[in-house]
Amino acid sequence: MFTELSQLLLDWYHKNARNLPWRNHPDPYAIWISEIMLQQTRVESVIPYFNRWIQNFPNISSLAKADQQEVLKLWEGLGYYSRARNLHNAAKIILDSFGSIMPDDPKLLETMPGIGKYTSRAIASMAFGKDYATLDGNIRRVLSRVFNLEIPARSPEGEKKLWQFAEENLPPGRAGDYNQAIMDLGASYCSPRNPRCMICPIHKLCQAYSLGLQEQRPIMPHKEQIPHYVVTAAIIIQDGKVLIAQRPNSGLLGGMWEFPGGKMNDGETLVQCLEREIKEELDCNISVGEEFGVYQHAFTHFRITLHAFLCIVVNGVPSPIEANQIAWVKSSDLSNYPMGKVDRQISQRLAKKPLFDSL
Ligand code: ADE
Repeated sequence: MFTELSQLLLDWYHKNARNLPWRNHPDPYAIWISEIMLQQTRVESVIPYFNRWIQNFPNISSLAKADQQEVLKLWEGLGYYSRARNLHNAAKIILDSFGSIMPDDPKLLETMPGIGKYTSRAIASMAFGKDYATLDGNIRRVLSRVFNLEIPARSPEGEKKLWQFAEENLPPGRAGDYNQAIMDLGASYCSPRNPRCMICPIHKLCQAYSLGLQEQRPIMPHKEQIPHYVVTAAIIIQDGKVLIAQRPNSGLLGGMWEFPGGKMNDGETLVQCLEREIKEELDCNISVGEEFGVYQHAFTHFRITLHAFLCIVVNGVPSPIEANQIAWVKSSDLSNYPMGKVDRQISQRLAKKPLFDSL
């Protein structure tokens, strides 16, 4: 229902809503794409990806009919690539089973790959004007502060309370603006650290602020230290081309291309690790040469330090034992293959060098 909180939020949003490209799109497809891109990714990073995506895949059927490599290439750099694969698969389902019309019912939306409770309700409210509240990280933080939630926000009881707060204050007919108002507030004044409460439009209603507890809300579990792995990768060069391998379709970086290699075991040297990995992955023996570079990267649940080496094959013919497929590629063509951040860095450096004909 309309409450003082929802009224203040709507008034503020009316004057201060960020001008974001998907907000000018009445199209449910565009809103769906933006919501998937915005998961775990900041608005500023999403904008250029969103615009390029809409230019290349303007509607559900163009996405459904696209090649997976094209889809992954357009997603390259955004991370969490299962989001792109899920979007692609969901577009195929909507084309085949729903005549290319995006469903408006959250329960139906949640049957699609990659659409959970947050996204289904975001789409239903923003794209179809339906009266659904939703919860993402920003909304959880804002509501935990406004209502001074004294239990962990992500506990089952905390979640239940937060959904209840969100739903009790939902203004009928204005759910899309209400949800986005809370998100914009969470992305601006109500930041995780140093929230700017003095100038926040809802501070007079904020219970945590009135108690000076805003920085202690929401209550979150301590973050576990994430593990660190040492990884090697082979830049195998032959006849002026370099070998890349496509990862299996599911799992981390699924469907993306990489320089083959893997995680170092206890007691191994970097060179032993790489020789073993290449034997396992490609069933051939390599000679490991000069170290090409050392790269750091953080994934969600672990960090890596990757050592890349220039290599040549000394025995056997590389074949895709663990990979989807392998390819021998000119360094100037590496940009056509979708890759994660580290492999792209290596590729870009390789593209600037002549490809080691002497190897
Ligand atoms: N984060 C996720 N969806 C959003 C939206 N529609 N507006 C602002 N921030 C968001």
